[in-house]
Amino acid sequence: MKKIIFVCLGNICRSPLAQAMMRKIVQENKATERYFIDSAGTGSWHIGKRSDTRMIKIGEKNHLVMDHLGQQIESYYGDAFDFIFAMDRDNQRNILQIIDEKHHHKVFLFRHFDTVGDSLDVPDPYYDELSGFENVYTIVKRNCEIIFSLLEKNAVKK
Ligand code: 4NP
Repeated sequence: MKKIIFVCLGNICRSPLAQAMMRKIVQENKATERYFIDSAGTGSWHIGKRSDTRMIKIGEKNHLVMDHLGQQIESYYGDAFDFIFAMDRDNQRNILQIIDEKHHHKVFLFRHFDTVGDSLDVPDPYYDELSGFENVYTIVKRNCEIIFSLLEKNAVKK
């Protein structure tokens, strides 16, 4: 069982979308018994809250189940997960401060393996227009597909 978590700032836009996307890919590949997929935020503002309605709308339009409730990453998540994907470099820095050094090798940038564009970050859409959310969807879909195929080959390595 591979245990994976996606981490952004608020846990209401980028990371819950990645979680729903990866769950769909895993289901389509009949691999649900082999994966546990979760998401969290480095911030605490949206604990227990549903995702941003703009992100839910785009996800559902694309047949994703957007049912996550916000949670904040804690130090024991370093133990609990095998792969921790940070949605941008700010969050990666914060994650590395929260979890123990012995688990730092599990922390990857979500766009580390991306084949398109020249940024390593999934842009924070929270204060953006709807087009920002559409852009996040495109980036998240492409990278979840790349990451799933690498995970299946045990090739998620730095
Ligand atoms: P996310 O977006 O990190 O992709 O969930 C944000 C959501 C909320 C806030 C910032 C970013 N906020 O400041 O409340």
